[in-house]
Amino acid sequence: MANYLVIGGGSGFGKAIAKDLLSNHNVWATYHTTQLDFTPTHMQRLNVLDEELTMELPQVLDGLVYAVGNIPLGGFHRSSPEDFLKDYSLQVLGAIKVLQRALPALKRSENPSVVLFSSVAGKKGYGFHSVVSTHKAALEGLVRSLAAEFAPRIRFNCIAPGLSETPLASRLLDSPEKKEKMAQRNPMKRIGSSKDASSLCRFLLSEEASWITGQCIALDGGESTLGI
Ligand SMILES: NC(=O)c1ccc[n+]([C@@H]2O[C@H](COP(=O)([O-])OP(=O)(O)OC[C@H]3O[C@@H](n4cnc5c(N)ncnc54)[C@H](OP(=O)(O)O)[C@@H]3O)[C@@H](O)[C@H]2O)c1
Repeated sequence: MANYLVIGGGSGFGKAIAKDLLSNHNVWATYHTTQLDFTPTHMQRLNVLDEELTMELPQVLDGLVYAVGNIPLGGFHRSSPEDFLKDYSLQVLGAIKVLQRALPALKRSENPSVVLFSSVAGKKGYGFHSVVSTHKAALEGLVRSLAAEFAPRIRFNCIAPGLSETPLASRLLDSPEKKEKMAQRNPMKRIGSSKDASSLCRFLLSEEASWITGQCIALDGGESTLGI
């Protein structure tokens, strides 16, 4: 049984991943405002915006998933420097603080693996995405750099989802018509699911992915690469 830490286990991808891993492994899950509606091996409240993170961790940590984030969409002229800073603190600095805290326990594992969440907007340009694109691109850079710095001991990868059905995306998918419209824009004619993310995440954490590091894997029905 491996020990996994899931940050953001109360909702969306983090919740699906934590529940999926829990069937075979020990899962330390953190929540912020949304209480967990399942019982992991260990649960704790964590606000990654706190200056000092107090987290209980297992002695040996085999994997860490950072599934915290936001989709702060808006016109560039209306996005203040404070908006950029706030989102940077959540998506990038939060991940950095969690990783620095967890590194000693990750180093004690035989096959440690870290998975972070970027977005289809980390590489592809979309209007009104300047805040989220800036920080997802930063996160992708962080993943590549850490993968190099910690090879061959710790693997770092990220998943870049397209629009997926989680509470975060509910505003964009709050009617059957909107859902259908969004699905029709995708080459695979559907939006993503938490299950898509948990399957890929479980693989990236496992021994089977032991030759994959420094990658940002698109999970978007082909949206970022296919011209159809
Ligand atoms: N869903 C999509 O369409 C989509 C597309 C591209 C990328 N992504 C990325 O995928 C990742 C997961 O998103 P999701 O769709 O699963 O969203 P979600 O359901 O809203 O989950 C986000 C998680 O982040 C937690 N969180 C927010 N602020 C926090 C803080 N200050 N401290 C600790 N935890 C905090 C939330 O906890 P509380 O709810 O308790 O506040 C929640 O558990 C994000 O990085 C997102 O940018 C999602």
